[in-house]
Amino acid sequence: VIEAIALDGPAASGKTTVARRVAQTLGFAVIDTGAMYRAVALAALERALALDDGGALTALAESEGPRYRFLPDGEGEQGYRLRVGDRDVTDLLYTERVSVAVPRVAAVSGVRAVLAREQRRIGLEGRVVMTGRDIGTVVLPEAALKVFMTASAEERARRRVAQLDDGAEQFPAVLANIRERDRMDSERADSPLVAAADAVALDTTALSLEQVVARVLELFSRRVASTP
Ligand code: DC
Repeated sequence: VIEAIALDGPAASGKTTVARRVAQTLGFAVIDTGAMYRAVALAALERALALDDGGALTALAESEGPRYRFLPDGEGEQGYRLRVGDRDVTDLLYTERVSVAVPRVAAVSGVRAVLAREQRRIGLEGRVVMTGRDIGTVVLPEAALKVFMTASAEERARRRVAQLDDGAEQFPAVLANIRERDRMDSERADSPLVAAADAVALDTTALSLEQVVARVLELFSRRVASTP
C-alpha cells in the first residue's frame, strides 16, 4: 500500500480543485496526469504531427515523458506548474486547441503506456494526490485510498460556467462539450474511464467543495489508520 490518493473521475468533476486542497492539508504533491496528456498534445500541435499517427505520437511521448516535472504552486489556479525540461508549459495546456486535440492523443495505447509508466514511477514515491481517469485501475492500484468522483453532467457544466466571466450564455455549449468528453473517455478501448472495484464512489452533485474535501480527508485518515 502506497501513501497516496488516487482521484479519478470525468471531465469537470472538480478533481483538480479537490486534489489541490487535500494535498495542501496533507503536505502531499499534486500530480495531475491529465496535464501530461495535454503536454503531449501541445507538443504534437507545435510539431504539426498528424493526430492519427500513433507511432509518431508514441515516439513523442517517449522523448518528452521523462522530462516532465510537477512543481508545487500554492498561488496558481491549478496548484502546480508543469515543466518540460526547463520550459514551463502550464499556461499553454488549457487552450481550446489543446483541449480539442487531447482526447485523440489520450486514445493512443503507446502514449498511454509511456505516460502511465512515468506516472507510476512518480506515484510509487508516495505522498501524492494523483488525479486522472485510470489512476486507481491502471497507474497506481496500490494507492491507500481510491476515490471515483462523479457529478451529473448538468452540475459539472454549471460549475464550469460559474468560473467563466461571460458564462451564462455558454451553458449549452459547455454541457455539450462535457457530454462529448464523457463519451470519448468512456468509449476509449484502452483504459476507459471506469471506477476501480475497490474505489469509493463520491457523488458530489449535492455537495460543496468543503464537504468533498472533508470527506476525502476523513476517508484517507481512516484508511491509513487501518493499514498496518
Ligand atoms: O482531466 P483533463 O481534462 O485535463 O484530461 C485531459 C485529457 O486526457 C482527457 O481527454 C482525458 C485524458 N486523460 C486520460 O485519458 N487519462 C488520464 N489519466 C488523465 C487524462
